[in-house]
Amino acid sequence: MDEEFLRCIECGERYETDEILYSCPRCGNLLEVILPLESMDRHGLRKKFDSRDLRVWRYRELLPRIRLKTPISMDEGGTPLHKCSNIADRMGIRDLYVKFDGMNPTGSFKDRGMTVGISKAVDLKVKAVACASTGNTSASLVAYAARAGLKCVVMIPSGAIALGKLSQAMMHGAKVLSVRGNFDDALDLVMRSSKDFGLYVLNSVNPFRPEGQKTAAFEICDQLGDAPDVLVIPVGNGGNSASYWKGFSEYLEVGLSRKSPRIYGIQAAGAAPIAKAIASGAERIEPVKKPETIATAIRIGNPANWKKTIRAIKGSGGTAITVTDSEITESQKLLARSEGLFVEPAAAASIAGLSRLLGMGEIEKGEKIVCVATGHGLKDPDAAIKISEKPVEIEPSLEALRSILST
Ligand code: F0G
Repeated sequence: MDEEFLRCIECGERYETDEILYSCPRCGNLLEVILPLESMDRHGLRKKFDSRDLRVWRYRELLPRIRLKTPISMDEGGTPLHKCSNIADRMGIRDLYVKFDGMNPTGSFKDRGMTVGISKAVDLKVKAVACASTGNTSASLVAYAARAGLKCVVMIPSGAIALGKLSQAMMHGAKVLSVRGNFDDALDLVMRSSKDFGLYVLNSVNPFRPEGQKTAAFEICDQLGDAPDVLVIPVGNGGNSASYWKGFSEYLEVGLSRKSPRIYGIQAAGAAPIAKAIASGAERIEPVKKPETIATAIRIGNPANWKKTIRAIKGSGGTAITVTDSEITESQKLLARSEGLFVEPAAAASIAGLSRLLGMGEIEKGEKIVCVATGHGLKDPDAAIKISEKPVEIEPSLEALRSILST
């Protein structure tokens, strides 16, 4: 088998990658792209990857086939992996890195998936694209749709997305719909409307989005020389954690890494159906009807990718835990004030989670740890202003300055 195909994660049924499908027509479960990895030569891949810049499309042999001459791209990926010795010292650990995926073109990891998803959309000759979003997916989709010249509809929960993300959604010429409900209601509406309105859905239930997102795992392996021992990552709808697992697993399978990390999924305490299911050993999640957290990006009660993510987290040997809003806020400050990294609240959940995991004895102090910072702090200026000291207003005189600086 040297062709790629879509496979149902539950019943294993196969489908062509040129069919527009978001779930298995036979059993309703999610689909994933399967690539012909066994026919790939490790040395050949290494040589090709090393000859290109660190970017999503550096890994094109490990991405689904796109028949366009050039993909719809804004040079996404290639984000920094910061060694964070100041936080490591405070936590008493040796090797801590933050993968700052907020440094992507629209300020979040979503761009990795969107370059692949939009390129596939153009390849499939769709006319219009859509998503539901807590903010970052819509910010990314509107930009990539504009670049591709596609019509775009985004549905966001009314009054519940961060200001920076709202401004992005509004700026690129898309139809922005503010849905009276939460993210789960908006996603439900997008899925129900796609056929009737001819909308190609680019939420992470689209099997091509995770393909782009998995490149962050490839990059981490290349930046460190191998996979880390531990990956800590915020979980909302569950797409990204499953994508990392797929990425680490594929890199290991083709022989470009020697191990795969334990993946720890971090949810906000008020929106934690996945962490709860794992803690109780339940077979399925119990959706949270009214999810609540200051980390609006992960304010999701009924994550569409729950099955994929629980499999990824358990399969990796990790687990999922919750953190409180105040732990998230403290970690956001910690990253900003001791490492210079300004991340949005949801992104800080990984550092908050790490602190808890160390306390629980889940992670050993000498292990190589990567925390994923999924979105930039400028996405949510209100959150930052709320938790920071107000600027001190002064007269433009040296005396005024002296009296302030001497206190
Ligand atoms: N961090 C940020 C900054 C996010 O925007 C999201 C998800 C996550 C973490 C969680 O990732 O859903 O793949 O588990 N944001 C989506 C959106 C839901 O619509 O922008 P996930």
